[in-house]
Amino acid sequence: MLTDKRILLIIAGGIAAFKSLDLIRRLRERGAWVTPVLTAAGAEFVTPLSVSALAGEKVYTDLFDLTDEADMGHIQLSRSADLVVVAPATADLMAKMANGHANDLASTLLMATDTPVLVAPAMNVRMWEHPACRRNVSTLRGDGVMFVGPNEGDMACGEYGPGRMSEPLEIVAAIETALAEGPLTGRRILVTSGPTHEPIDPVRYIANRSSGAQGTAIARALTTLGADVVFVTGPADADRPEGAHVVEVETAAEMLDAVHSVLPVDAAIFAAAVADWRVASASGSKIKKQAGAIPSLDFAENPDILATVSQMQTGRPPLVVGFAAETDDVIANATAKRLRKQCDWIVANDVSPETGIMGGTENAVTLISDDGAEHWPRMGKDDVAHQLAERIAAALA
Ligand code: C5P
Repeated sequence: MLTDKRILLIIAGGIAAFKSLDLIRRLRERGAWVTPVLTAAGAEFVTPLSVSALAGEKVYTDLFDLTDEADMGHIQLSRSADLVVVAPATADLMAKMANGHANDLASTLLMATDTPVLVAPAMNVRMWEHPACRRNVSTLRGDGVMFVGPNEGDMACGEYGPGRMSEPLEIVAAIETALAEGPLTGRRILVTSGPTHEPIDPVRYIANRSSGAQGTAIARALTTLGADVVFVTGPADADRPEGAHVVEVETAAEMLDAVHSVLPVDAAIFAAAVADWRVASASGSKIKKQAGAIPSLDFAENPDILATVSQMQTGRPPLVVGFAAETDDVIANATAKRLRKQCDWIVANDVSPETGIMGGTENAVTLISDDGAEHWPRMGKDDVAHQLAERIAAALA
């Protein structure tokens, strides 16, 4: 139920705007208050009268409406909701959001708000797949904007593909998920994930086989429990976690800087497979292949991010969790690692090639803490993530 939840619903200009009328009805049925905002283009598809009649509230349309400003200023309007929903979200409005435009009421509200934002895109398939739209979607995801849809199917323009706005009940479900309160609501948690790339020259780098799957699953699980997650990731294949603030980095040094800028947090989970070494003096230009001349590389040690944060004298997160991917003497090595780095927990796993864990979908971990070593059965990485998120919630309670 959405009893007494306040939704600021921005309806932009697309044929899918007619579905937003039904969305308003569904939200009201569930006890939510809907404050509608209609863009000028949106008003070409649905009338302000039908929107306000269904919402049972005034519809806001204009940034420079003096009556509105006297009534409720646009900044206050942007902060008055529990969730801002944009449905339909057009390519144009998403471009404005991604680039920080604020030249009408909808885009200004989206810039000014301090509430979570959920968008339901709706557009032609070619527009959805256009590189500019891909860039904007990825920027918005990185900013922590949540998405529902678009769905694949026949489009009003006669084409077929992804771009149809989600159905009203799907949007309602996404709203319920976004507003779900969990044991980690109000907690800010950092998760590092993925490999790092350490440059040899502008085209070559040293890396490892981390897919980022486990870190991504942990970030998702923490978000599901209500946490405000900042996800600092190296160049990983895994999809970025929905609803998390994503910070993309390449090298260990960049990851350390990003981590410092994210602190303070209530908990920090270091799931990244950070390269232990970097090339001491990476070449600024491509190293040329010359017959018989094999270049030799000098290495320098990378900062140990987990140890650095675990040993902070002030501002240390109350819970610091490290990972230990080992191929031999897993428990003994991980136990020693926990003491050496001074983190609170270590999640240890055996990544010998025959386990298929590195890059796979399953994991078999041992949680090492002050209480000793607790073996968890082999399970999906999502299940490991959920179990770990529950433990983190219990530890922070
Ligand atoms: O020492 P090792 O790499 O095995 O330790 C693994 C743990 O330490 C992981 O949690 C990893 O994210 C973290 N780590 C780090 N910075 C490094 C190396 C590892 O944060 N430079």
